[in-house]
Amino acid sequence: MCGIVGYVGREEAGPILLDGLSRLEYRGYDSAGVAVYHPQVGLQVDKAKGRLQVLSDLLDGGKKIKGTLGLGHTRWATHGRPSDVNSHPQVSEDGLFAVVHNGIIENYSEIKEFLESKGVSFVSETDTEVVAQLLAYHYKGDLLEAVSKVLHRIRGAYALGILCADQPDRIVAARKDSPLILGRGDGFNMLASDVTAVIRYTRDVSYLDDGEIAQLTPNSVEVFDRYLRPVEKSVHHVDWEISAAEKGGYEHFMAKEIMEQPKAFRDTVSPRIQDGEIVLEGLNFDRAYLTSLDKVYIIACGSSYHVGMAGKYILEKLLRKPVEVALASEFRYCDPIVTDKTLALVISQSGETIDTLAALREAKRLGATVLSIVNVVGSTIARESDKVLYTWAGPEIAVATTKAYTTQLALVYLLALSCAKTLDSLSPEEYQELLRGFLRLPDKMEAILKHRDYIQYLASHYFNHSSIFFIGRNLDYAVGMEASLKLKEISYIHSEAYAAGELKHGTISLIEPGTLVIALAGYAPLFEKLVSNVVEVKSRGADVIGVTSAAQTGWLAPKVDAIIPLPDAHPLLLPSLEVLPMQLFAYYVALQRGCDIDKPRNLAKSVTVE
Ligand code: M6R
Repeated sequence: MCGIVGYVGREEAGPILLDGLSRLEYRGYDSAGVAVYHPQVGLQVDKAKGRLQVLSDLLDGGKKIKGTLGLGHTRWATHGRPSDVNSHPQVSEDGLFAVVHNGIIENYSEIKEFLESKGVSFVSETDTEVVAQLLAYHYKGDLLEAVSKVLHRIRGAYALGILCADQPDRIVAARKDSPLILGRGDGFNMLASDVTAVIRYTRDVSYLDDGEIAQLTPNSVEVFDRYLRPVEKSVHHVDWEISAAEKGGYEHFMAKEIMEQPKAFRDTVSPRIQDGEIVLEGLNFDRAYLTSLDKVYIIACGSSYHVGMAGKYILEKLLRKPVEVALASEFRYCDPIVTDKTLALVISQSGETIDTLAALREAKRLGATVLSIVNVVGSTIARESDKVLYTWAGPEIAVATTKAYTTQLALVYLLALSCAKTLDSLSPEEYQELLRGFLRLPDKMEAILKHRDYIQYLASHYFNHSSIFFIGRNLDYAVGMEASLKLKEISYIHSEAYAAGELKHGTISLIEPGTLVIALAGYAPLFEKLVSNVVEVKSRGADVIGVTSAAQTGWLAPKVDAIIPLPDAHPLLLPSLEVLPMQLFAYYVALQRGCDIDKPRNLAKSVTVE
């Protein structure tokens, strides 16, 4: 969602802010703006609706705006439509304060009414303008004191960047429930929504925690709590290469990230296999603990939730423990049954999804132990979990997740296998067979990706369909949910995933001649049942693409219009392979339809508002 960049130093801030914003474009936005201060010119604010390029052209790449400190922002509209006036920075009526904000100020109407009663006039429809005006109202010469007073009055979620024309040697930041990092340089300091915006300038970062306020000058970073008591922050060194966040010759980040999956899988798994055994760092789940568990509660949103759906089948099968999967946005309000014997498995690529974070806190409050699977190191979910397993997928930039999904799933397998071993719920032979098969997956992924032209050919044949159904049973159903989400989010084709056995209970009425059905038939134990469902939709005129393992292809091929064969693998492991052609299919369909693949309409990479 909204992206924030701030810079205070000796260089011209304009180009740095625009460059930082360009690195945050992937988060999703509909307008952009910057505020830069110059001693002779004062506070200069430029904003434009639309792509960042519009603003960049207006400012000649930032060169037209002079000054060595400033704030930049990409806005994903919540309060007020996308427009120049609603873009950030929002400025107080007296022209003293410029504010950028990610999040939602829940009590903004009440504060707005109060300020209007004091004679303040508002120009935008945003909740953010309230913060700028309230700062001006409370400011009596002490910037931090004004910030602290404002933070005590506002409710909701926020990452804030604040510039005060009366104190033009510093920028101030504050956060609650929305991410903000501080980039520490030599003679300059920065703030940003995430590391990608600062990594060209510095690799040393601190993570701001909820309730903290930071004051940045060119040579100092001070952090305080909301009562202005100093807080010590540690500095972390970011070690991934800047090229990891670039396209590397691919037309889209999504294409690059799809192709990176075998490597991401190996990077995630290899360090956790030592002398043929699974070693999950920091995880000391012994037999007594695992036996005592009343259930595993998997909590996540979107694709991470789909990993959880697959995880339920895998964990229940291997551990014989009850596993519940909840959408984080539902979990937090459903009065969930959680005890101190519950393991909450929280899954999130970004580690910042606000619903997932809130659900994590609720699970913790109810006594659960929280283990998270997270991609972004140092993210809030990672920091607030009791234990964390990182997916080493590298930065994921495309809004549609691919390599995060496969690496999350890889960790679910490792967790399930490791716990099954501890619990003795698998025979040593079954365990060895599964582990061997699991370690062969990246080679098989490579084989699938090598034949991507065939998927592109299928996409060119079917891209004009207005509605596409995915059917599957058990693990295939879980993959179907992900395949359907992938397709709709980037190609805008209406799509649904159904448990194939449910078709007869209503959905089959939607099948008519020419409807495209993608039948996921990888899960061998239910293959025949799925074939029956294929026959049912075929006899009602559907076009069917079948997806199954090589061994089953001969059975399915005569019943369908096209077939996507997968390398053979243990049925429990097949989802890691089956999802790849589905990602490719979504990608090529979207490409044929001329969609903005990396930045699909209305979507944001990291959903930091409820
Ligand atoms: O960062 P998270 O994994 O918590 O994000 C959850 C969802 O927002 C995310 O998976 C979303 O559904 C993706 N755009 C799907 O491609």
